[in-house]
Amino acid sequence: MIWLSHSCAQVKKLTNRGIFITLEGIDGTGKSTQMRLLIKHLRQRGYRVVETREPGGTRLGERVRGILLASRTGKLAPLAELALMYAARAQHLEEVVRPALARGALVVSDRFNDASLAYQGYGRQIGEATVGVLDRIICGTTQPDLTLLLDLDPGAALARAQGREVRRNSAHSRFESQGLKFHQRVRAGYLALARKQPRRVKVVSAGRSVAEVQAEIREIVDRFLNRAGKRGDRGWGFGIRKTE
Ligand code: TYD
Repeated sequence: MIWLSHSCAQVKKLTNRGIFITLEGIDGTGKSTQMRLLIKHLRQRGYRVVETREPGGTRLGERVRGILLASRTGKLAPLAELALMYAARAQHLEEVVRPALARGALVVSDRFNDASLAYQGYGRQIGEATVGVLDRIICGTTQPDLTLLLDLDPGAALARAQGREVRRNSAHSRFESQGLKFHQRVRAGYLALARKQPRRVKVVSAGRSVAEVQAEIREIVDRFLNRAGKRGDRGWGFGIRKTE
């Protein structure tokens, strides 16, 4: 471990290969607020964080996001929707995620591939197997190291999401207008995934105050990063770099 002093803040860099953290959950769990607070915390702790989102994260991805979310797009064939998600993801991986991880950065993404499993695999009922095939081709071994799954009853979550839209005076996205049954399937998909991969996917109950949810998220992430920093097996370790 090499520590160099820096005139402003000490900036930690994860050497060799970075760490990939994702935030997931059905619409209306307060994910974006929690993401913002987590990023602030990590930067305060001195990490160089690459903050990104899906669908989006690149110019192409943001254009595809526009199509996927706009109500005027109307009904998309479920496989077309899945393919668009993965088209945006392929670009995101190539332009943003993989280069950042190769530089040893800490990448934090508001949604990633688990959303396709939950929304398209379970919500649209395409099935796990089909999503898995596409995922192996496009993501391959680039998988999140840690996923925070914000969990909330879909009835409460949808009411929150709708309240937010009214405040912003904006229309519901194609997904938010899907109704309760759809979001119940999405939630079941996320929870099934958390049961299968409990070491990676951590369920955080989102039915509490912003501060309480954030405190638990920080605890999980800090514990994970501290452990990762000590572990030599995957080559993670903390160094300090003066400038990018
Ligand atoms: P999000 O950015 O969470 O919405 P908001 O702008 O309201 O915070 O996500 C956009 C929507 O895209 C969300 O309803 C979930 C959906 N989605 C999928 O269906 N599959 C995917 O693979 C991804 C990444 C998102």
